[in-house]
Amino acid sequence: MYKIVFMRHGESTWNLDNRFTGWTDVDLTEKGVAEATQAGKLLKEAGLSFDLAYTSVLKRAIRTLWGTLDEMNMMWLPVIHDWRLNERHYGALQGLNKAETAAKYGDEQVLVWRRSYDTPPMPLDENDDRTSFNDPRYAGLDRSQIPLTECLKDTVARVMPAWNDSIAPAIRSGKRILISAHGNSLRALIKMLDGISDDDIVNLNIPNGQPLVYELDADLKPIRHYYLGDQAAIAAALQAVASQGKSK
Ligand code: 3PG
Repeated sequence: MYKIVFMRHGESTWNLDNRFTGWTDVDLTEKGVAEATQAGKLLKEAGLSFDLAYTSVLKRAIRTLWGTLDEMNMMWLPVIHDWRLNERHYGALQGLNKAETAAKYGDEQVLVWRRSYDTPPMPLDENDDRTSFNDPRYAGLDRSQIPLTECLKDTVARVMPAWNDSIAPAIRSGKRILISAHGNSLRALIKMLDGISDDDIVNLNIPNGQPLVYELDADLKPIRHYYLGDQAAIAAALQAVASQGKSK
């Protein structure tokens, strides 16, 4: 049996402001930094250790990983930064307040943009300052690989090659892995791992900074999964994430 731990980054400044973030590279709040440390404590208490970590190329996930590994006294751990683990690109919604957007377009429409499998938000204009075309961290990519918007299906299409080509072979070789990533890149991975339907994925939310342990069989099929930590607080955090896109 294998174990892998997924973790969404701790609270970011734009989580606090309730803004659509996507590929915008915002940092953690103080609370987010504390959540990363707390995650490290929980992982230690659960007796978990790692041989390799993955994260995105966005600082909120990277800094969360740093805080967690620091608490575990494992800052030496090899880390793979993979752009394919980035948050889902939120298109022209990036920077807008989620509740204000819901007041303008309606809660239903915002739920579709946030959680539907195959309806992307409006794309960024190619000339918009918010595009990532000139960002050096994506210099190795073909322009066609850099999104202007994404639905979850598009995120699945970039996350799964990272799983199949890099993460799954590392698990099979016996490496114990921690992944520090994002709400929707983790929803993409979990959808595929658990075989969640396009309709049911609407109801899956991931809280900030909570280690989520997946136990996998020899074929890397999930046996069970569970969050470490205070289960009532996690349930409340899940509910809070679900409510972020409501006008009131
Ligand atoms: C964002 O990109 O805004 C968040 O990290 C994830 O947002 P969501 O829960 O609204 O999809």
